[in-house]
Amino acid sequence: MQFRDKLLKTAGNIEGALVALLDGPHLANTPERLLKAMRHAMLGGGKRLRPFLVLETAALFDVPEAEAMAPALAVELIHGYSLAHDDLPSMDNDTQRRGRPTVWAAFDDWTAILAGDGLQALAFQILADCNEIAPATRVKLISELAKASGAAGMVGGQAMDLEADKLNHPQEADATHVKSLQAMKTGAIIAFSCEAGAILADAPADQRAALASYGRHLGYAFQIADDLLDVQGDAETVGKAVAKDAAAGKATLVSLMGISDAQSELSRTVAAAKAALAPFGGKAATLLAAADFVAERDS
Ligand code: IPE
Ligand code: IPE
Ligand code: MG
Ligand code: MG
Ligand code: MG
Repeated sequence: MQFRDKLLKTAGNIEGALVALLDGPHLANTPERLLKAMRHAMLGGGKRLRPFLVLETAALFDVPEAEAMAPALAVELIHGYSLAHDDLPSMDNDTQRRGRPTVWAAFDDWTAILAGDGLQALAFQILADCNEIAPATRVKLISELAKASGAAGMVGGQAMDLEADKLNHPQEADATHVKSLQAMKTGAIIAFSCEAGAILADAPADQRAALASYGRHLGYAFQIADDLLDVQGDAETVGKAVAKDAAAGKATLVSLMGISDAQSELSRTVAAAKAALAPFGGKAATLLAAADFVAERDS
């Protein structure tokens, strides 16, 4: 099966599992408007790349899908929450995502904030409640996801991203600064997604480190590609507004080094991501294809 067909198949399964989750007992007693906003944030679009990475790295170690599904959904819930907040008027002020109105545009900003809060809590709840995973492994996953999504990871990266366009005296945005910003805001969650398989399998430290390295490079590549799409992409295909980063004064690798150098950095980063998979040999074919996909994607 071609990589894109595999990703689409998994996206269908993830969508189905999210529909069931957002319609299930975890959210009984949730006020109707909030529940609708949480569904709007999570359903009907998205590449589902992060859960795909959790399931594929778990498959490397023959971890059953029943065990890998909870961390896969948890990371997508964190991603959905982060986008609901990222699009807010006080953050990136975007009205379109995945070809549809953003959560705040469809509802209002307080509902979008609370929907994100609810999704974040739900992510940790489904991990904590997943009896298929041994308790000690569950705790490790919860801890690593908290680290990747929190102030030392995604939330910290979002703060650095916004400081560049909201504060009058932002920190000098040199390449080192932008790289650590990207590693935190996008890289940490993608790296977690790739390490999750090794954590589930209690894999040897060197194999876990190899997947973490793959994930860090993949995450960096993913954000360079996102920033290139902002400059070169077509809004209809991308499903969200483009040409916004420069207007907002965002510190991106593209604004710093220009399109051509950013493309070279992207190619180098994809090569480094692939090199990290060497210990897995032919078993890593899908993850190798994922690295190419990240660089070549048009949405
Ligand atoms: C967009 O992520 C936000 C970034 C981290 C750049 P995706 O491009 O994975 O968004 P969806 O989930 O596929 O819509
Ligand atoms: C968003 O980055 C990253 C997170 C939500 C953590 P961007 O602001 O570049 O993502 P898009 O372009 O809105 O999808
Ligand atoms: Mg943003
Ligand atoms: Mg944004
Ligand atoms: Mg972007």
